[in-house]
Amino acid sequence: MSLHLEARVSDPTAGGLENLLSEDRRFPPSAEFAAQANASADLYSWANADRPAFWGEQARELLTWSTPFEQTLDWSDAPVARWFADGRLNAAYNAVDRHVEAGRGDKVALHFEGEGGDTRTLTYADLQREVSRAANALTSLGVTTGDRVAVYLPMIPEAVVTMLACARIGAPHSVVFGGFSAEALHSRILDAEAKLVVTADGGFRRGAASALKPAVDEALAKGAPSVEHVLVVKRTGQPVEWTEGRDVWWSDVVDTASDEHTPVDVEAEHPLFILYTSGTTGKPKGIFHTTGGYLAQAAYTHLNVFDLKAETDVYWCTADVGWITGHTYVVYGPLVNGATQVIYEGTPDTPHRGRWWEIVQKYGVTILYTAPTAIRTCMKWGEEIPAQFDLSSLRVLGSVGEPINPEAWMWYRRVVGGDRAPIVDTWWQTETGAIMISPLPGVTETKPGSAQVPLPGIAADVVDDEAHSVPDGSGGYLVLTEPWPAMLRGIWGDRQRYVDTYWSRFRGLYFAGDGAKKDEDGDIWLLGRVDDVMNVSGHRLSTTEIESALVSHPWVAEAAVVGAADETTGQAVVAFVILRGDSEAGDLPAQDVQTTLRNHVAKEIGPIAKPRQVLVVAELPKTRSGKIMRRLLRDVAENRQVGDATTLADSSVMDLIAQGLSTPAAASQD
Ligand code: WT7
Repeated sequence: MSLHLEARVSDPTAGGLENLLSEDRRFPPSAEFAAQANASADLYSWANADRPAFWGEQARELLTWSTPFEQTLDWSDAPVARWFADGRLNAAYNAVDRHVEAGRGDKVALHFEGEGGDTRTLTYADLQREVSRAANALTSLGVTTGDRVAVYLPMIPEAVVTMLACARIGAPHSVVFGGFSAEALHSRILDAEAKLVVTADGGFRRGAASALKPAVDEALAKGAPSVEHVLVVKRTGQPVEWTEGRDVWWSDVVDTASDEHTPVDVEAEHPLFILYTSGTTGKPKGIFHTTGGYLAQAAYTHLNVFDLKAETDVYWCTADVGWITGHTYVVYGPLVNGATQVIYEGTPDTPHRGRWWEIVQKYGVTILYTAPTAIRTCMKWGEEIPAQFDLSSLRVLGSVGEPINPEAWMWYRRVVGGDRAPIVDTWWQTETGAIMISPLPGVTETKPGSAQVPLPGIAADVVDDEAHSVPDGSGGYLVLTEPWPAMLRGIWGDRQRYVDTYWSRFRGLYFAGDGAKKDEDGDIWLLGRVDDVMNVSGHRLSTTEIESALVSHPWVAEAAVVGAADETTGQAVVAFVILRGDSEAGDLPAQDVQTTLRNHVAKEIGPIAKPRQVLVVAELPKTRSGKIMRRLLRDVAENRQVGDATTLADSSVMDLIAQGLSTPAAASQD
């Protein structure tokens, strides 16, 4: 695969990063925190001595195996790893039943907070009954071990229950974020050949009921021969269209099913789930994870990175289960560790901007895991808002999804963490399955803005174009140099794409797609993607996918999309389009053209992909070989002086674009 170094980071190997990231603030762990911390510095030397053996110990210690494993890592089929391959276990048993069997059935597993203020509490015993009922219902709907189940639900307890019910019968789930469009849902259902779709009539968002079932109907109307049934949770009570014989209500089949069910024992390498993520091409990749290694690293990282004390902590990860963070740090990590956690359906500002802090106060949340974009949004709203709530219960703060700028880090520490709670900036990806690079609270002296060090058991490096490790103080590409238990086992149905995407850029090394730098202490700083992938509010979006969506509109002849720096969302989607000469769009006001095209992208992919701006231009800057120079467009989108344009086929193009954009109507947003 080719690297596009014109991306946000420009060329991370080019030097000159020294001034960009100089940070001399240091936050050593407090003596009190260190004294009680789960992690200790000797974990690093233990893991370095024998990495597979270290993970074997964790897997034995943290999970319950029905058949204990003898093998740790089998790398003979590299780059597809097999971990603990001769062992057998069940993920739902590990997440639920064993806690009940150990006498912790009355412990709260989930405090659910609906957006409208409705609440539900599920203990581990409740969860065992619910998951068993759902597993029986899935079986009665014809789902068996190995079948795929698509899940398109809001953040309600049924989402967690459905995922665990799938795991219980060994049916890999494929969760599709509720904010994705019918089109996106359709392609994911087709690719995974899902037998069942689990959805809801809708969810609550910003005070209103949003619909989900119509998107499922629309997706299935496009043709999806593998789907036999649609299981529908009633959440909002809004009317839904019904296809007799295909659609079934959750209340009819799950609530009435037996609450006893024996978990299906699977091999450690049995697929647990598929989760689609955007790549550099238009077609999302079905990243798939297996059971034993994934669960071991999920539990290990959740325990050590968040210093979880299962008996006393109240943990809250604000991610939706539609993303990998929700899989590993809402469902599997915390539940396998027997934690009590909060799940929240809605947005941070409904019905008021203090909602999150009100939830922290109400449940006495001790560990909070969220994204930099949320922190920056709260900064913008003002610190007097969190100041109205008692946040003194918080003792560990996590950040994930994108680089956290030092100012946001400092604000998070001071305003949310009372200058007391350690911050863990955790770098990982859908592909890595679990946290890879992060400080350990109580052990690491933290630095605002840096994810710092690979966890014990993880081997990462920063390399130059020739795959040589760069010296401290230099930049390059982030790679992972040794296999790890929660690593993806591939792209669903496409081994070659897996090899090409991750293992071909640097021989024998996993290429993460991120630029990075090692500072003078050897600590790692993540600098953003070096490929055509954008990071908007911590969500991955592909430039190519959005370009394809735009070009699918009859008005658009050509489109180029860039991620432009944005104060709140990290990056924002900015699209440049050339309209077809014969389209009616030419006669419409620029504003209407923009609105129509922005809405078109939202419809094709989902509201998260909606461009912040759509700029109509007469030409796009291209090299002589016809490749769009996104770097120059990014300069325009970020209001910068346009950089070196000497490789353009037609050097007057940038002037044309600049002239066209100086008319206010063309550059405005709706
Ligand atoms: C990409 C992965 C892992 C869950 C959320 C996103 C970026 C993630 C950090 C961080 C800097 C980060 C990277 C990565 N990223 N965490 N702490 N610091 N960048 O998962 O959608 O698979 O995206 O998110 O660019 O490659 P994802």
